Amino acid sequence: MITVRGLRKSYPMGKLLVDALQGVSLELARGDFVAVAGPSGSGKTTLMNIIGLIDTPSSGSVLIDGVETGGLRRRERTRIRQENIGFVFQSFNLLPVLTVFENVELPLTIAQKRTTRAERRDRVEFLLEEVGLGDRRRHKPSELSGGQQQRAAIARALVTMPKIVIADEPTANLDSANGERVLALMKKINREEGTTFIFSTHDPDIWEMANHIVFLKDGGIESERRR
Ligand SMILES: Nc1ncnc2c1ncn2[C@@H]1O[C@H](COP(=O)(O)OP(=O)(O)OP(=O)(O)O)[C@@H](O)[C@H]1O
Ligand SMILES: [Mg+2]
Repeated sequence: MITVRGLRKSYPMGKLLVDALQGVSLELARGDFVAVAGPSGSGKTTLMNIIGLIDTPSSGSVLIDGVETGGLRRRERTRIRQENIGFVFQSFNLLPVLTVFENVELPLTIAQKRTTRAERRDRVEFLLEEVGLGDRRRHKPSELSGGQQQRAAIARALVTMPKIVIADEPTANLDSANGERVLALMKKINREEGTTFIFSTHDPDIWEMANHIVFLKDGGIESERRR
């Protein structure tokens, strides 16, 4: 469902170019639970941002359901992203002035899929129950713990029923109990809704939950493991 071919990404740094990715190729299947592992600076965030269509490669291609995304106009890429991909950022990126309910609802309001207010409310309430935040819907993000904010961010990523959820270190800011809860929730949605998850993590315990592990080193794939 996602094919990555020969992905390279260089960033200018003064007169030099930093190679963040140097020729990454991958096949990710529908329903995969993929861990992207590797030391700091190995290219995890760069790779996931490119797969998630929020960044573009210097060369190489990303195909989603056979569609070569590199040749698309910006508007078309945005549409594919909004309709297919949910994002969980390491720093949550919840909007501080909105309540938990409003934060989770926002991608549905923005998406071009037509939904009624009642449909949106049902989906948001279902997800808030699912992530254990049913009683926090009127709170502002600043009134939540880190684990609760991360769970709100996951509900937000799922609200449009994306085929793919990309989560950059979804447990990095959490203690181990909350980290396990967040992962268990992702795994449950992976099983029940068939959603493909691609997440990065430094935590070897969490790699073990994945059915496909991609180890990055210096912008390349060091090894891959499937089961
Ligand atoms: N905007 C940028 N400008 C210049 N260099 C960048 C930029 N973003 C990333 N890099 C460089 O690209 C390389 C890969 O960075 P990336 O953020 O993908 O690593 P990472 O594996 O996600 O690391 P971490 O585990 O610390 O999050 C690093 O050497 C980094 O310095
Ligand atoms: Mg990173």
